[in-house]
Amino acid sequence: MNQFMNNPLSTPSILSGGQPKVELSVQSFEKWRSFIYDSCGIYFQDNKKYLLESRLQKRVTFLGLKSFDEYLEYLKFNPGRNLEMRYLYEAITINETFFFRNQPQLDALVSTVVPQILDAKGKFGRPKIRIWSAASSTGEEAYSTAIVISELIKPKVPTLDVEIIGTDISQAVIETAKKGIYKEYSIRNTPPYYLKKYFKFNGSAYEINSSIRDMVSFKLLNLYDDQGMRAMTNFDIIYCANVLIYFNLNSKIKVVQHLYNSLQRGGYLFIGYSETLHGVSKAFKVVSFPKTIGYKKE
Ligand SMILES: C[S@@+](CC[C@H](N)C(=O)[O-])C[C@H]1O[C@@H](n2cnc3c(N)ncnc32)[C@H](O)[C@@H]1O
Repeated sequence: MNQFMNNPLSTPSILSGGQPKVELSVQSFEKWRSFIYDSCGIYFQDNKKYLLESRLQKRVTFLGLKSFDEYLEYLKFNPGRNLEMRYLYEAITINETFFFRNQPQLDALVSTVVPQILDAKGKFGRPKIRIWSAASSTGEEAYSTAIVISELIKPKVPTLDVEIIGTDISQAVIETAKKGIYKEYSIRNTPPYYLKKYFKFNGSAYEINSSIRDMVSFKLLNLYDDQGMRAMTNFDIIYCANVLIYFNLNSKIKVVQHLYNSLQRGGYLFIGYSETLHGVSKAFKVVSFPKTIGYKKE
């Protein structure tokens, strides 16, 4: 008799490295889907069952567990569950990002959004702009913004105080973001002038200059955590790009309402190329810019 025979939800399938793999049953998938959704708003559609199975498999094997149900119990009741939640988030999130991913948004920021916000605040004294890259992943969006502000806004408004915060649910990406060291893949879309001026190549990777790194801070934040979200206030610009696609309508509505509350009046929300707030929120004014749109809180 082997270890799987007592568990109707688990059957050994592929043998890899001597570790029998277990399968995610339909019933277990339902439980996992609810658990993940309630924890972070990410919703696995029916056709993503195999994706979830392959993402979780590594942890099940690593922890020596016999089934996905056992892993779920572990996450709910084990004293080490907080640390394990970190691994879970790392396993289920997609962290794809790169520098200058959305040039039209950066152009809109420089040409219109920041000047408009500064006009409203008054340029004199020490004006301050607060920018939040929600779901920042490894930091490229936040640092790209710091670069264009340094290069194109700061020379015109030298007293400008800029605060940029990047947040993400994954501790691993936050640690990478704080280091500010990137492989070729991340800088592939970076204009050569900026690459030369704001990065140092160390032979194998590109390190962002301290002048840019010091403009940005990073911290862990789950967009689905009401308490954490309520603490994020008074932002002028928020990016929440390429993350809403992983949520369902209800989690989108909840997160976008929080983002609206986090913005100052006159502030803007920017989302990803393939995303829309149509059917999610009517609170914003949609503002068109060349090749992009922004959502303004009036
Ligand atoms: C595809 S990346 C997008 C990075 C960047 N915004 C961009 O557009 O290039 C999506 C990020 O969202 C993060 N994420 C997913 N669910 C989240 C949640 N509930 N709270 C905070 N971050 C989340 C993931 O960890 C991942 O790093």
